[in-house]
Amino acid sequence: MDFHRLLADRTERMEASAIREILKVASQPEVVSLAGGLPAAESFPLDLLPGLLDAVVRKYGAASLQYDASEGFMPLREALLPHLAARGVTTTVDQVLITSGSQGALDGIGKTFLSPGDIVAVEAPTYLGALQAFTPYQPRYAQVEADDDGLVPASLDAVLSAGGVKLIYAVPTFQNPTGRTLSIERRHRVAEILRRHDALLVEDDPYSDLRYVGERVPPIHSLAPDHVIYLTTLSKTFSPGLRLGVCVASPEAFRWLVIARQGVDLHTGTLGQALASEYLAGGYLDERLPGIVEFYRPRREAMLTTLERTMPEGVRWTQPEGGMFIWVTGPAGLDADRLYEATLARGVAFVPGRHFYADAPPHDGGGLPADATSTFRMNFTAAEPAVIERAVEVIAEAMHEALRAQASS
Ligand SMILES: Cc1ncc(COP(=O)(O)O)c(C=O)c1O
Repeated sequence: MDFHRLLADRTERMEASAIREILKVASQPEVVSLAGGLPAAESFPLDLLPGLLDAVVRKYGAASLQYDASEGFMPLREALLPHLAARGVTTTVDQVLITSGSQGALDGIGKTFLSPGDIVAVEAPTYLGALQAFTPYQPRYAQVEADDDGLVPASLDAVLSAGGVKLIYAVPTFQNPTGRTLSIERRHRVAEILRRHDALLVEDDPYSDLRYVGERVPPIHSLAPDHVIYLTTLSKTFSPGLRLGVCVASPEAFRWLVIARQGVDLHTGTLGQALASEYLAGGYLDERLPGIVEFYRPRREAMLTTLERTMPEGVRWTQPEGGMFIWVTGPAGLDADRLYEATLARGVAFVPGRHFYADAPPHDGGGLPADATSTFRMNFTAAEPAVIERAVEVIAEAMHEALRAQASS
């Protein structure tokens, strides 16, 4: 059968991304992968699971296997309130929506707010999964410039002043893919810009619990709650497989987001939500978190010190205070795609950076920045420190070779 003629207009826009191919290759056992973004299996509370399950069965019985409210399992929504408040997100239970991962929230937001042709403002570069969630709703993208302190407020202001922006999507803390964090000063400026333009920001915050150095910064939600839909997830600190995302939205947005997700999956799995509510309410997340942070800390250090020791002159990289990723920018002319091929041949994978840029035409504040093709993302949470060191050494060797070849041609 010719399925192609049956596809909806939006389906063709969902093209299998090149990055999925990269992740497939990178997952082969002979490849050391710095490409993915998986939490380490050691961070999962497997030892607690029988006890959590037992408590769930005793407390909730058959309700833990039953259909439940689209808004989410009430004990989990309640258990999240102090957790959110400790992170600077003050809210009430009727504004907390549980989604199927934060990815589910991103899809619901696209469905609720985006008509074909609407503009979504995103950081350059941005989280690819958000682009994949929004693109089927056929928006256009406008790119907001970013530097080491995160998105540049003047650039956001200019993009909003140009008009037509339906929503802004940003990962202000330990961004995926760069690891950058928006400074406090800039958070205040962004809040002021949101209020002035009466604009809506989707603040995606999966990583702020994974802080290795420095002080916690307030979420933008705390500075302009009426203008922010705040997303976080239990994927990085409990289990990604249970698909538990958290969305905090003002009452009106909340109402539409609930309606939007009813037609998709009715609700997030009840048993997983019940387990999470026991994990949170029992204080286990707070108890476990320092151990998870300590587990990842040497991995980040291994990557940073090996970069320092091995990288050729002219190469720059971010110094993330948390999260899972480091972003490398090569000297002008370095081709990250060719570098990827060269290091893959030696058994090491990363993700070339150009995949993380929205496809925005230059007149919409887009087009690839000049240095985008020399960038790449490396994950430091999934491999042991010694493996990370060796992998970065391999990348550095390939880079030295590429730059020597460039110089002599
Ligand atoms: C910035 C960002 N947002 C959302 C997600 C998706 O997380 P979840 O597992 O909650 O769907 C990720 C996962 O890597 C991410 O990096």
